[in-house]
Amino acid sequence: MKGIMKTNMKIKMNVSIAILLALTIVAGCGSKNEGASTISPSPTPSASVTTSPTATPSAGTTPATTSPAATATGKPSSNPVTSPAASSTPTKNGAVQVIAKPESITALVNKMNSLPSSYEPTDLVYPNIAFTFSEKIDKRKMRQVAATAIEKLFAGAAKDGVPLAGVSAYRSYATQKSLFEAYVKKDGEEKAKTYSAVPGTSEHETGLAIDVAGSNGKCAASDCFGGTKEAIWLEKHASEYGFIIRYPQGKAAITGYQYEPWHLRYVGTDIAKEIQSKNVTMEEYYHTVPVSK
Ligand code: DAL
Ligand code: ZN
Repeated sequence: MKGIMKTNMKIKMNVSIAILLALTIVAGCGSKNEGASTISPSPTPSASVTTSPTATPSAGTTPATTSPAATATGKPSSNPVTSPAASSTPTKNGAVQVIAKPESITALVNKMNSLPSSYEPTDLVYPNIAFTFSEKIDKRKMRQVAATAIEKLFAGAAKDGVPLAGVSAYRSYATQKSLFEAYVKKDGEEKAKTYSAVPGTSEHETGLAIDVAGSNGKCAASDCFGGTKEAIWLEKHASEYGFIIRYPQGKAAITGYQYEPWHLRYVGTDIAKEIQSKNVTMEEYYHTVPVSK
C-alpha cells in the first residue's frame, strides 16, 4: 500500500514540475517578444554608411559631400573620413548639387556641382606674374595659395625658356553670368555650354583657376594653343606646382568641356601629381559620374 502511495505522490510531483516548467517557458517567450517590440524597426542609418555613394578616391580623400542619401534623410554627413573636403555629389536623377565647402582647395566644381551664387573667396590677391593685359582688375586675382603656386610655375617655365602670361583668373558669379550670357547670344546655349560654364559652375569663381598663354599672348584661350611649346610644358610640369590641366583632350564626355590646354586648376601637389600620373580627370579621381552635358 505504502509503495502505491509513494508512486502516486511521485507522479503528482512530476506533473507539478512539468506545469511549472511550461509556465516558465511561456513567460519567457512573452517577455522576449515584448523586449523585441521595443527595438525600433527602422534604426537611424549610420552616417558613414549612407554618405558616400561614390567610391573612395585613389588618394584616400573624397570631396565633402551633401550626398543624396544624406539629403534624403535630412542628415548631412559630418563624418570627416567620408566627407573631408570639397563638394557635393550629384544625385542619381542628375540634379545639380550645391557644394558644401566651396572654400576647399579640392572642391569639385562642375556641371553637377555648383558653388553657392553668393560665394566669394576671402583671400584673393594679385599674383606677381605677367598678364596679357595691363589693368589691375579682378581677373588677375587668385586665392593666396594658388597665387603663390602660379608665381613658382611661371618662374619654372621661364627658366626652361617658356615664358608665360596670365589671360584670366578669378571671376565673380556676376562676371561669369555676363560672360556666359554673351556666349549664348553669340553661339546659342547648347554650343556655349561646351566651352563656357553656367554661372556658379565655373572654376574661375573659386579663385583657384587661371587661363594661361605664351608671353606673346598668341592663341590665348583658343584651340591653337594646343600643341604649342607652352601647352606641352604645362602638360609635363603643371602638377609639380599643384595644378592640373582640368579639361584634357578626349575627356569631354567626362568633364563636359572640350579640350582646354590653357585652363589650370590648383588642387595641391599631391592630388595634382596623382591625377597627372594616372592620366585621369578630377571627376575620375573622385569616382563621380560623368558630367557630359
Ligand atoms: N571655360 C571654362 C569651362 C569655364 O567657363 O569655366
Ligand atoms: Zn578657364
